[in-house]
Amino acid sequence: MQKTIVPDVWTWKRWQADRSMDFNSWFVKGDANVAIDPLEPDAEDLAQIDEMGGVSWVIVTNRDHERATRAFVDRFEAKVAASDLDAGELSVAVTQRLTDGEVFQGWRVIQLDGFKSPGEIALYSLDRKTLVLGDSLWGDPAGSLRFGAEKKLADLKGAALSLRAALAVPHIEHVLVGDGVSIFGGGRKAIVDCIHDRALPDALRINLADVPTQLRAHHDGYRAASGDVGFMLGAERLGYRILRLEPGDAFCPLHWHTREEELLIVFDGSPTLLHPAGNLQLAKGDFVAFPTGATGAHKLRNDGKETCTIFLLANVDQGDVCFYPDSKKVMVEYRGLIVRSEPELAYFDGE
Ligand SMILES: [Fe+2]
Ligand SMILES: [Fe+2]
Repeated sequence: MQKTIVPDVWTWKRWQADRSMDFNSWFVKGDANVAIDPLEPDAEDLAQIDEMGGVSWVIVTNRDHERATRAFVDRFEAKVAASDLDAGELSVAVTQRLTDGEVFQGWRVIQLDGFKSPGEIALYSLDRKTLVLGDSLWGDPAGSLRFGAEKKLADLKGAALSLRAALAVPHIEHVLVGDGVSIFGGGRKAIVDCIHDRALPDALRINLADVPTQLRAHHDGYRAASGDVGFMLGAERLGYRILRLEPGDAFCPLHWHTREEELLIVFDGSPTLLHPAGNLQLAKGDFVAFPTGATGAHKLRNDGKETCTIFLLANVDQGDVCFYPDSKKVMVEYRGLIVRSEPELAYFDGE
């Protein structure tokens, strides 16, 4: 196996003459060692794997990448994890049926739609800034990505939107592919370029009815289903999302931004805007501006009886700082740092 620039990740590969591409497998050393889409290892690979403690789990990214999983089950008593949607298609028993958003052995599972296998998944590691793809994109020609088995795609536009939604994760430096040559450095751009090459103009549009949302229950009373439309459509300087708020639920504590200005449009329902100057009952069709600074402070709550559907748009600015006046907190977005805004310190405090 060859060590990669991605921490604790090794690879072994086999040349596929009929496709003029390598097939790749990944070995991840951790508390429990993981093999991803494992090909038949040769004697030297096996010796290395043995030396590093064997394999506890095999993750299969799609039904066509089972490959030599059975050899790992037989030799190491490895257990198998695969998407819930493909688990029944594998010849080996699947112990862990993976679902979208769960974190498994340090990798966040991203369920993709529109590809050949209904259970096609990507795996994301924030620490490693790395996305692992199975058959969704192939690294071909070397240095670029293209849709895998494009003629067999269930839905090219859907696949493109779904991949873009996967880009909502914070950093993608490296993209490890099961077929072809992986992208080390510049992974996010390679995915965006591939979508632009093949899926325009269709992938520029989505209908409200088709926006997938995920329920996020962050805290008591704070719960919203949210869909990152901006990412799905490839927006760069503007971020936009759809929110669905059920009666009694709120989205974000009261806050205001220093650099990101927001626009809210009520698509449906009558959310309450909580503002330091007083509450405002909003109605379908309302536009509300949240300029930067305390004037634009906002918290949204659904005090009504109907689901509220809300559209939010903002410029994206990594230099944004967010103030939470009720709890006297400050969030420095670039660092993901949240601290108290009081007491204020003198410039030389602690020096
Ligand atoms: Fe493949
Ligand atoms: Fe905000």
